[in-house]
Amino acid sequence: MKKWLRNWRLFSLFSVMALLLAGCGKPFLSTLQPAGEVADKQLSLMLLSTAIMVLVIVVVTIIFVYVVIRFRQRKGEENKIPKQVEGNHTLEIVWTVIPIILLIILAVPTVKATFDLADVTPMNKEKRDKDTLVVNVRANLYWWEFEYPDYGVITSQDLVVPTDERVYFNLKASDVKHSFWIPAIGGKMDTNIENKNQFWLEFDQKKADKAGNIFYGKCAELCGPSHALMDFKVKAVPREEFNQWIEKMKNAKKPVVTDPVAKQGEEIFNKSCIGCHAVTPVDKRPEQARTAPNLANFGDRERIAGILEHNEENLKKWLKDPESVKPGNKMTGTYGQLTDEQVDALTKYLMSLKVE
Ligand code: CUA
Repeated sequence: MKKWLRNWRLFSLFSVMALLLAGCGKPFLSTLQPAGEVADKQLSLMLLSTAIMVLVIVVVTIIFVYVVIRFRQRKGEENKIPKQVEGNHTLEIVWTVIPIILLIILAVPTVKATFDLADVTPMNKEKRDKDTLVVNVRANLYWWEFEYPDYGVITSQDLVVPTDERVYFNLKASDVKHSFWIPAIGGKMDTNIENKNQFWLEFDQKKADKAGNIFYGKCAELCGPSHALMDFKVKAVPREEFNQWIEKMKNAKKPVVTDPVAKQGEEIFNKSCIGCHAVTPVDKRPEQARTAPNLANFGDRERIAGILEHNEENLKKWLKDPESVKPGNKMTGTYGQLTDEQVDALTKYLMSLKVE
């Protein structure tokens, strides 16, 4: 194949890829479509450092091309040597000072943003303001627990937050290291076993509207075979709506089941599942005892097991063979093989668990 043709093909391929990949950003998932103060600041820093790097590359390339053309050997001037500038003080000062200036331009906003984004004083005050919302995040082998300590409420997999205010997070893990990440809202932070990390995020209401009020959250630290499936969802709602939700959660009682099939499901649940899964949002057990997701508002959730679309069919699939959905999960093997009838009954019961 002719060389120019091959080059042209490569060029076309990269152009098409650039176009297609540029379309990948979704408002609920993309770092490049920031939906809050933290993500905004971080994107600005990324753009600033990219701009500086591009500027350096462009200037160096122009000088390089100019020098190559200007000083190449010409016919009849084979023995001519251009003026030598080695040891030129002015030049040496110029190319030492320019990088220093560039680094200062990069360092000042970076250091400032680093301190702003790490400011968690309001959450650590002896007496916290009533409006300061704190969420304890606990990462576990392939599921997330969200505790609202000031309200005594626990939920899992779906984080609910108010928009247009800072929400403060305590982050930790109960088994191995994970990392808490809501790409559209802000950079990731590790959840460790040995210490608690803290940071804050802000969820923009207008951007939340655009994203359908749901942002996607991820585990960003390789933690096992189902690491890539360790997703969670964030419902970002106006403060008023959040208050209503938290009230409902605070006052949710043990569900009263009337449907006969669901009733049968409840019996199976109380025999095989309740040792790990709670069905009320107020769970006083210590966290070591909370070994599985709280299911109080399971019927209101966005996903089954964090990843499958929320419908009965997928729930049955998960209950029958969790291993096929999330390899290495801790539920596999904790109960015997369920009959189709039992699965149907459990599904009916679990889907009836709602607070909304
Ligand atoms: Cu948890 Cu990756």
